[in-house]
Amino acid sequence: MDRVTIFDTTLRDGEQSPGINLNIKEKLEVAEQLSRLGVDIIEGGFPQTSVGDFEAVRAISETVKGPTIAALARANEMDIDRAWEAIRSAPKPRIHVFLSTSDIHRKYMLNATEDEIVAQAVAGVQRAKSYCEDVEFSPQDATRTDWEFLFQIISATIEAGATTINIPDTVGYALPHDFGAMIRACYEAVPQLNDVTVSVHCHNDLGLAVANSLEAVRQGVRQVEVAVNGIGERAGNCSLEEIVMAIKTRRDLLEVETGINTKEIARTSRLVSLLTGYSVQRNKAIVGENAFSHESGIHQHGVLQDRLTYEIITAEEIGVEGGKIVLGKHSGRHAFAKTLEEMGFQLGKEELNRAFTRFKELVDRKIQITDKDLEAIVADEIQSVEEVYTLESLQVAGGTHLAPTATVRLLREGQPITESAIGDGMVDAVYGAILRATGMEAQLISFNVAAVTGGAEALGDVSVQIQIDGERYTGRGISTDIVEASGRAFINALNRAARAHRVARGDEPTP
Ligand code: KIV
Ligand code: ZN
Repeated sequence: MDRVTIFDTTLRDGEQSPGINLNIKEKLEVAEQLSRLGVDIIEGGFPQTSVGDFEAVRAISETVKGPTIAALARANEMDIDRAWEAIRSAPKPRIHVFLSTSDIHRKYMLNATEDEIVAQAVAGVQRAKSYCEDVEFSPQDATRTDWEFLFQIISATIEAGATTINIPDTVGYALPHDFGAMIRACYEAVPQLNDVTVSVHCHNDLGLAVANSLEAVRQGVRQVEVAVNGIGERAGNCSLEEIVMAIKTRRDLLEVETGINTKEIARTSRLVSLLTGYSVQRNKAIVGENAFSHESGIHQHGVLQDRLTYEIITAEEIGVEGGKIVLGKHSGRHAFAKTLEEMGFQLGKEELNRAFTRFKELVDRKIQITDKDLEAIVADEIQSVEEVYTLESLQVAGGTHLAPTATVRLLREGQPITESAIGDGMVDAVYGAILRATGMEAQLISFNVAAVTGGAEALGDVSVQIQIDGERYTGRGISTDIVEASGRAFINALNRAARAHRVARGDEPTP
């Protein structure tokens, strides 16, 4: 069977989602998990856009084994040189050069003629090729580009040395049948496409990213660009888990396969959701909480007789058996470290110490610790490494006839700050006190509470999005007490903002 290459852009396009700003440790953790999942290519970032992106791509290139590591670059010397600098230590590096080709982008963004665009794209691919054998070219906004011009630029960039041609549906405008016709037309007009890898990169503005990518595969495309949980610009990208499971489940019709270890899908989805603060909708295909639950009596009866009556995929296939008890009250440091290692987490000594302290606090309240709890603790620790503010203690009082009040004690670079506030509710009071203590001004945009596992003593997982000076930041916090988890999530978001501001001022080299 033909193999479809999975090009994962969670850390680049996915990270462009509003409010997501992962630090290097978080990106490394996601990249390691993507490697375990078996993706073929990891697009680690867009190195020219920030020092943080550059450092993250470099760290991934140096440490993550297995997949090709790609870096994105506009078709100009500075971007391409910087991309190469970031990926040069990867055993399998790729430079991904892009340039807009549609009339609307040419006119309003680039102010360039078609001939100028072709010349720039060719020069970009040639420069990338001078560094690296593996070069991908993307004509941005391809689906709104004049077809004749698209054929011309594809042919010119293949001639210049591109080994992968990616056709992006940048604004999620295509419908499956017309996208399929366009891909077919490209193959007919540019026969050299048969000598390179043809790829697609579909956005989900009309909810068709997976359908369009599958149609492209039907037309002969052998690379799809995807993001875990479908995150990405605006409505997101083609969802990794959906297209992989569609290919696996309907290989009878598609006659292709991927190299993905589907048993790692659920865990990858949870990790990305934990670290980005983007929760997965309950009814999301494949990884939503309800994807394997049956509500109606008729369905339940059918599944009890034979799963195949109402299930086309088993929960085991995507590794949903998460939730098993792995540690308890009597587990010591050794068992804790070994369990994390078995789960694939490689924590440094300090992180391990802090994670163990969190585990001990948790086990006092919760007794039995599942793998999902451990994932949440580790995600929290990776996030907390770069804290400007840490929560020392929190006290709240309130009730139906008592004004909610909160007192928080934060540490800033070892110095304690204590503040109190009254609010509309306990969480509001906590947030007021935290803002006073930090002296920051932030608007709460969204607030979500979920339980990591079931049961009254479950860990509460709070994710928030805040806005400061027009920029959005996400934050997450976990605790068995949801008021405390809410405070932690808010502080986590403020820390990300404080970090970003320090970097912007040049006080810090990397975010
Ligand atoms: O959506 C898009 O066109 C992109 C390109 C950079 C491939 O993300
Ligand atoms: Zn994109």
